[in-house]
Amino acid sequence: MPFLSPGDAARSASLLRTAFAQRFGLEADVVARAPGRVNLIGEHTDYNGGLVLPLALPHATLAVLRLREDDVVRCASTDVDEPWSGRLDDLAPGGERPGWVGYAAGVAWALGTPRGFDLLVDSTVPSGAGLSSSAALECAVGTALLAATGAPLDDPARRSLARAAIRAETEVVGAPTGGMDQTVAMLAEAGSALLVDFEADEPSATSVPLPADGWVWLVTDTRVSHALVDGGYAARRADCEAAAAALDVPSLRRAEIDAVEALPDERVRRRARHVVTEIARVEDAVAALAAGDLDAFGALMDASHASMRDDFEISCAELDAAVDAARGTGAIGARMTGGGFGGSSVALVPAERAEGVAAAIDARFAADGFAPPQHLRAVASAGAQVL
Ligand code: GLA
Repeated sequence: MPFLSPGDAARSASLLRTAFAQRFGLEADVVARAPGRVNLIGEHTDYNGGLVLPLALPHATLAVLRLREDDVVRCASTDVDEPWSGRLDDLAPGGERPGWVGYAAGVAWALGTPRGFDLLVDSTVPSGAGLSSSAALECAVGTALLAATGAPLDDPARRSLARAAIRAETEVVGAPTGGMDQTVAMLAEAGSALLVDFEADEPSATSVPLPADGWVWLVTDTRVSHALVDGGYAARRADCEAAAAALDVPSLRRAEIDAVEALPDERVRRRARHVVTEIARVEDAVAALAAGDLDAFGALMDASHASMRDDFEISCAELDAAVDAARGTGAIGARMTGGGFGGSSVALVPAERAEGVAAAIDARFAADGFAPPQHLRAVASAGAQVL
């Protein structure tokens, strides 16, 4: 089986309810699901007031939860042997807990959850792969906490859960990310990518239908782990802020390319050039989809990859190899996706060639002496839901 399975959510939910009852001795109140994501184009644009075009994966995190009468919080994961337990007071920024618990604790803290809870999570989103396993966890837990109180998961609730998940990531975990991942995990619709515009304080999101048949979004996890709390992401963000300050604009969304090209600092100039051209590529990519011109979309993916490799300098040998092998064997466009420095690539491939392209990437990795990558099919799925 060459592609990583997303699993069967309904079946997993029922198995997890049983596991929850065995572990905690009581039935769960609720099971919620939130997806990982792959960004098709628009990288490092969200924190620059720009545009992104991700889709929600069928691979998702499930959160099984029961509210308690006291202030105790117990968190367990099917991936981790040791559960964590603490109290509501321990959820705030700076608390002592294992890394993964920070995402769950953080969203509960951001929501101001008044009661303790027991939580069991399980995920088919590979972690460290640039596919937003952290946002999937935050949004699954947030959705479960909301649903356990009986509140409806309507559009305003989805938007406020996305905001709480962003605060969990930036204020509790301390990863200075931009909001794309949590927004798509909450607001995506099946069959569509989500165009998100981050210029205003409240991002605006529009579904963009994707071609239904005949094409595969092939995602390749290079298995080179990336961590957003490492310095590279924050350094790129700082360069973008320096560029916006030098250009005297509120964000690079408002920067003109001619002004960018005149920036005196060579590195800052290249970083800003990536962002400004990438925002334009997202606009062009949405127009290409509307016109049914997938060749044009593919060419924009290629240009996006070159910009990230050369100007933004966030690619790596494995990502370049995956993109190059995909392009050489039938993909009509390919690029790295996510924060960079490892993680995954995404290629647009005619369906009948998907397995061949995946095999060609495997062969290239073996020839280059890299560890085997892992592939998955990114079928555009719905945002968070209660199961
Ligand atoms: C990570 C962050 C996002 C975004 C991307 C790069 O996934 O979480 O907010 O900045 O990197 O596009």
